[in-house]
Amino acid sequence: QAIYLKDYTPPAFLIETVDLDVAIETGHATVTAALACHRNPAAADPSAALVLTGEELKLETIRLDGRLLGQGEYALCDDRLLIHAELPESFTLTTVSTINPDGNTQLSGLYRSKDGYFTQCEAEGFRRITWFLDRPDVMAKYTVTIHADKAQFPVLLGNGNPVGAGDEEGGRHWAKWEDPFRKPSYLFAMVAAKLDMLEDWFVTKSGRKVRCAVYVEPGKLDQCGHAMAALKKSMKWDEDVFGLEMDLDHYMIVAVGDFNMGAMENKGLNIFNTKYVLARPDTATDIDFQNIDRVVAHEYFHNWTGNRVTCRDWFQLSLKEGLTVFRDQQFGMDMHSAGVTRIQEVRTLRTAQFPEDAGPMAHPIRPASYAEINNFYSATVYEKGAEVIRMIHTLIGKDAFRKGMDLYFARHDGQAVTCEDFVAAMQDASGLDLTQFKRWYNQAGTPKLVVRGAYDAATKRFTLDVEQLYPATAYEKRLEAEGKPVARGAYHLPLVLGLLDADGRELPLRLAGETSAAGTQRVLSVTEDRQSFVFEDIAAAPVPSLLRGFSAPVVLDYPYTAAELTHLMAHDSDAFCRWEAGQRLATDILTAGIAAYQAGDGDSLAWIPTTYADAIRALLGSAFAPGGDPALVAEALALPSEVVLIEATDGTVDPDAIHAARLALRRHLARELKGPLAAAYHELKVDAPYSPEAQQAGARALRNACLGYLAEIDDAESRALVMTQFDTADNMTDTMAALAAIAQFELAERDDALARFLDKWKDEALVVDKWLMVQSTARAADTGQRVRALLQHPAFDIKNPNKVYALIRAFCAANPKHFHAADGSGYAFAADAILQLDAMNPQVASRIARAFDRWRKFDTHRQSLARVQLARIQSQNGLSRDVAEVVGKALDS
Ligand code: ARG
Ligand code: ZN
Repeated sequence: QAIYLKDYTPPAFLIETVDLDVAIETGHATVTAALACHRNPAAADPSAALVLTGEELKLETIRLDGRLLGQGEYALCDDRLLIHAELPESFTLTTVSTINPDGNTQLSGLYRSKDGYFTQCEAEGFRRITWFLDRPDVMAKYTVTIHADKAQFPVLLGNGNPVGAGDEEGGRHWAKWEDPFRKPSYLFAMVAAKLDMLEDWFVTKSGRKVRCAVYVEPGKLDQCGHAMAALKKSMKWDEDVFGLEMDLDHYMIVAVGDFNMGAMENKGLNIFNTKYVLARPDTATDIDFQNIDRVVAHEYFHNWTGNRVTCRDWFQLSLKEGLTVFRDQQFGMDMHSAGVTRIQEVRTLRTAQFPEDAGPMAHPIRPASYAEINNFYSATVYEKGAEVIRMIHTLIGKDAFRKGMDLYFARHDGQAVTCEDFVAAMQDASGLDLTQFKRWYNQAGTPKLVVRGAYDAATKRFTLDVEQLYPATAYEKRLEAEGKPVARGAYHLPLVLGLLDADGRELPLRLAGETSAAGTQRVLSVTEDRQSFVFEDIAAAPVPSLLRGFSAPVVLDYPYTAAELTHLMAHDSDAFCRWEAGQRLATDILTAGIAAYQAGDGDSLAWIPTTYADAIRALLGSAFAPGGDPALVAEALALPSEVVLIEATDGTVDPDAIHAARLALRRHLARELKGPLAAAYHELKVDAPYSPEAQQAGARALRNACLGYLAEIDDAESRALVMTQFDTADNMTDTMAALAAIAQFELAERDDALARFLDKWKDEALVVDKWLMVQSTARAADTGQRVRALLQHPAFDIKNPNKVYALIRAFCAANPKHFHAADGSGYAFAADAILQLDAMNPQVASRIARAFDRWRKFDTHRQSLARVQLARIQSQNGLSRDVAEVVGKALDS
């Protein structure tokens, strides 16, 4: 059932125009589609039959150039409609089908959500609306006419421009939209709903006056301002940085509460999960505001990287996603603190992508095969894909990268292309040979970079030996077994570095063979399995600052001493490396602590070096020194998460020891630094009216990090502090920080606080999601029972993806202690949920099933418990392709 990239063939037919008519009635919708088709001159087989795809469609009639086709002139088989009738060179095929949007629980295609009807067509949802050549290399011009009840669904939207509207009998109305751009079917969208609208204008560099509109459920207009501002900032940024302008007169964002993913870049009519639109200081946290900036920018940037130039086939998904994530990351760095943004990206990569690359679902950013494409909207395709683009940017430099982008658009505007086409533009614009670099597109796994430094006082040379390791992953092993081996070889990657002397100064860098030093930071081009770099004129043994800005998505192995890490934490000019040094130091200590807990001696705390609290005290103090950045310090105060520690474990993972060691270290720091933490907490109070901008948000982040530590002391004083913040906070960031601290403990205060919070916010769906998540991610001993009980709570709704993600996915993916409970209750809970969800929404079910990815890393007892649940899921009749792929690969690993 796997599909292979190497089997790609051009479509036998192309579609010039699509004229859709969608009549929404009670209980069903009637879809009439007139497709102007012709044979593709580039088709492999000039006499191939016309085969359209459709899913859950009831075909009513079919006409060829107006003539009704009879039985025998076409055939329906599974999801395919085969035309037997003889076809002229070009013709119009018109189908009438009925669909059932109200019963569409998959949220793919046209579906009902509270206030109306919405669509999601990427990747293969358009076939759930009408019969089509539902593949991205078939690009057509679309018009759509929508009919619906006027009172219930007053707003009718489509891609492009409104070209007509009117009333119909029976209290109904219609509207017609026309998109002037050719596009693949996955970018089609329509909406018929009751919505409020916020409107604003953006004038492009060349003078186009673009109407920007944000549509939300009635009553939520006061939560749209931030998204609108983000949209206008994105439009400006893309003009300034890439010279790319908006190409339509209308740019609409519609927020919907039921949505599988984050948002969708449909041409001129983005559809968003409400989570990435709605925000008000009292309902959304600083992180929510920041995420809205990023997702609005992401979807807007897709207008060029995705829509104007799209993917030839779904194997090329990273062509648009990796590049667009890279673009939204660059935007984020310009809008917020660059250092903090980068640290957060690396954290996301390590928590979501590294485990994927190490597990049964490992795949390169361009997979060679898949069973279900929806499983490949992955951290690898998105996040690692962005890292790959970033490496090109680092290797060729900003100016050549911009030239490469210009060349990419000059060559491919209006086309559906491949990752090779993108890399070729970058290569041609920069003159750098990227042949070897392309291995990043074909090889899976996180490479390990083993670096050793040797200083020779006699010659004043510092030599770095660099070795790359890239053992085969589950992906390569499977393809090998299928007789489709993937060639593997060394990667081409940028190693950005500096050298620090004993005083923390950056040394001028001169490589052997160079006549003079060139700066204090270098981009080394690593291309070999083993390679050495020799720096000259180094007066004394330096401390290398390696992989600055996380210049490549690798695991770095360098034998830093604790003293060297403390030195980097204090002096490195690179924010990422300062943070990284702290994470490494903590990881080394925690690794010893985990071993101590396994040996039964953890509680002695003998594994915590006496100097550690001093290093953290200095770190905290640096936030208040001139030039100090509280946001960065907040990042540095956070110990590596349990998920990151699981990945850092060689050998069998012990989730209880990981949890115990991490918590003990937090409590140790809290006790040792109680005074400075409390002082910082009071110092950092923000008195100005709330704003989500970086400086205030940074102060809140550090203040709440201090609160979190203080709460670990768990005495009357710290409880009072937490409760006071919970009761008096005037913004959701501070409220949630307090509630998260309260939720850790099984105290009477907890249940009371949670009850009051729900009572206050029960009508704000996104805030209720926070209420669920703060409970599903709590470490309190009763979390498992509580999460099971919450499944029955009226505030939970298994049909709503956001609710499922907040309660079930967060428990499985972000609460390892409870998910991996030794009695197997977490695994059984997940399996029950997956089976229940699979029957209604396979995409969501499959995302939960990914919680089992790392089951092989645990002890044999837990493995046997996980295997039972995986087997139970696999044996389910009618299991979706989505879940079957994930569970099948997990069991085969
Ligand atoms: N292209 C969208 C984005 O990244 C994601 C949509 C994916 N949807 C899906 N059902 N796989 O912005
Ligand atoms: Zn995207």
